[in-house]
Amino acid sequence: MKTRWSINWFFIFIASLCINSNQAKNYHAVVLIHGVLTGSTSMDLISNRIQEMHPGTQVYNIVRYAGWSSLEPMWRQVEELGQDILAIGAAFPEGINLLGYSQGGLIARAILQRFPEHNVRNFISLSSPQAGQYGTQFLHLFFPDLACETAYELFYSSIGQHTSVGNYWNDPHHQKLYYKYSKFLPYVNNEMNSTRAKAYKDGLTKLRKMVLIGGPDDGVITPWQSSQFGYYNSNETVVDLYDRPIYHNDTIGLKTLDKQRRLEMYTVSGIAHFQWHTNVSIVDKYILPYLD
Ligand SMILES: *[C@@H]1O[C@H](CO)[C@@H](O)[C@H](O)[C@H]1NC(C)=O
Ligand SMILES: *[C@@H]1O[C@H](CO)[C@@H](O)[C@H](O)[C@H]1NC(C)=O
Ligand SMILES: *[C@@H]1O[C@H](CO)[C@@H](O)[C@H](O)[C@H]1NC(C)=O
Ligand SMILES: *[C@@H]1O[C@H](CO)[C@@H](O)[C@H](O)[C@H]1NC(C)=O
Repeated sequence: MKTRWSINWFFIFIASLCINSNQAKNYHAVVLIHGVLTGSTSMDLISNRIQEMHPGTQVYNIVRYAGWSSLEPMWRQVEELGQDILAIGAAFPEGINLLGYSQGGLIARAILQRFPEHNVRNFISLSSPQAGQYGTQFLHLFFPDLACETAYELFYSSIGQHTSVGNYWNDPHHQKLYYKYSKFLPYVNNEMNSTRAKAYKDGLTKLRKMVLIGGPDDGVITPWQSSQFGYYNSNETVVDLYDRPIYHNDTIGLKTLDKQRRLEMYTVSGIAHFQWHTNVSIVDKYILPYLD
């Protein structure tokens, strides 16, 4: 009887140690940025799972620029949401983690570049058109008749540049117009000569980790390799990140990150675009490990 008691106490003691060490683990705050034509509720599963698996994590699920307003120009969203990220970062001087889904991952990346003073540690891009988009699947929600081949006529114009999608539309057959009209993607990719080029690179190279998640069954991000900075050449052959100038010339620091093992890329098949943020196993395997 006496030994039973002491054994029980022993287990209670061990259990309390475990609980204490769990509480003692201070997870960094996380900011989530939703995708185009959706809002913060689309990110609830990720948010809930983080709080379930990493108790005590402060999660900030960005509400602004939901629904139709998500089509507002990229720079406007980057400027405004960037202020939110800086304010949250200021409340957590030990650093925060940042995750963006779909268009939200491109906004997030540009925030890091536009505000290189940020204190983001790990950045996770969940199926985002980092190298641009040349596919009309989701555009058909609001432009039912839009064809890929002629969309440039709309997007490469001053009016077209008033939409977020126009800002990262990257037509491999009309690169001259892309460079002439696009106000956003060629700049944040440092393909243009801009006075901010150094800051754009610094904002990314200071990251602890950049994590790029995407896969061949995405169906919306086109080509899907854009989620990992791969893109079409002028023949519509996909050139992967390592063979593109953005990597070769280390234009925005991707090569630096890679050489120092701070660039992680995950290719997951069998996941459609609207499943990335609703699949618990994606969160567990590829996201949570970077939210320490
Ligand atoms: C940027 O522009 C300046 C002046 O137009 C030019 O001298 C310089 O070579 C350009 N740099 C790059 C990297 O293109
Ligand atoms: C188009 O693709 C072919 C075959 O891969 C290649 O030999 C050719 O150089 C490509 N052309 C351009 C402009 O990339
Ligand atoms: C990459 O760097 C090489 C060598 O400096 C240069 O010739 C080439 O134009 C650069 N490419 C781009 C796209 O900047
Ligand atoms: C969730 O993702 C995993 C891959 O991590 C896949 O095997 C599984 O089928 C997905 N589940 C659903 C419901 O899509």
